[in-house]
Amino acid sequence: SRRVTVRDIARAKERGEKWPMLTAYDALTASVFDEAGIPVLLVGDSMGNVALGYDSTVPVTLDQITMLSAAVVRGTRRAMIVGDLPFGSYQEGPVQALRSATRLMKDAGVGAVKLEGGERSADQIRLLVDAGIPVMAHVGLTPQSVNAFGGHPVQGRGEEAAHQLLRDAKAVQDAGAFAVVLELVTAELAAEVTRSLHIPTVGIGAGAECDAQVLVWTDMAGMTDWPGGRKPRFIKEYARLREALGDAARAFGDDVVTGVYPAPEHSFR
Ligand code: KIV
Ligand code: NA
Repeated sequence: SRRVTVRDIARAKERGEKWPMLTAYDALTASVFDEAGIPVLLVGDSMGNVALGYDSTVPVTLDQITMLSAAVVRGTRRAMIVGDLPFGSYQEGPVQALRSATRLMKDAGVGAVKLEGGERSADQIRLLVDAGIPVMAHVGLTPQSVNAFGGHPVQGRGEEAAHQLLRDAKAVQDAGAFAVVLELVTAELAAEVTRSLHIPTVGIGAGAECDAQVLVWTDMAGMTDWPGGRKPRFIKEYARLREALGDAARAFGDDVVTGVYPAPEHSFR
């Protein structure tokens, strides 16, 4: 049993096979997705929101990504593990990017790294790829720039924005990225990008024509508590984990308070 590789990913596009990607932030959850056959797991900087309680990905550090990536690698056998380079770990330039990516590969054992940005990150991508590090790119809405975007608007609307997104996608492909995430892009534009590239597109809020689809696992499983119940349109919940886990905690609590748990069969004598 070997890990999924970039060659497997390239072959899937040649064959027109779609594939799923999920985020993971701990060994136990990652093992569930690995056993379910999810071929690529992303230790996303979305851990800032999901696991660390921040309201953006901006504060996440390379130490945090490295620690949780190592856990996800240890918890899995088959999936390719992609570690996200956090804000501030590659923007200074290619040399800083190489130092950060090397650290993540050596200390956590990830098989690839991801970073945000199209044309603006092409030099970083090229140096990493030259050094033998598979890179997944990320264009469209790039959450590390939330303060520049002023929120999370859909990307690529309007002719100039559409052309820039196409240029960004081409730039990361030319720089050697093995795949590119398209986040919050109109379905029409994502389809055009997907047809234009020979590397796979991984959509999130980018319509059905992408080669792959990614979701933050807690969104996918119905664990996220959306403020005011306003779940973004692109998310489909495949379970009601928040409700199930809350019910379990309440039942445990009630049993302890009423003395139902532990029963004799849970006790040693
Ligand atoms: O950090 C993350 O979870 C991501 C995916 C949403 C692509 O970058
Ligand atoms: Na991310």
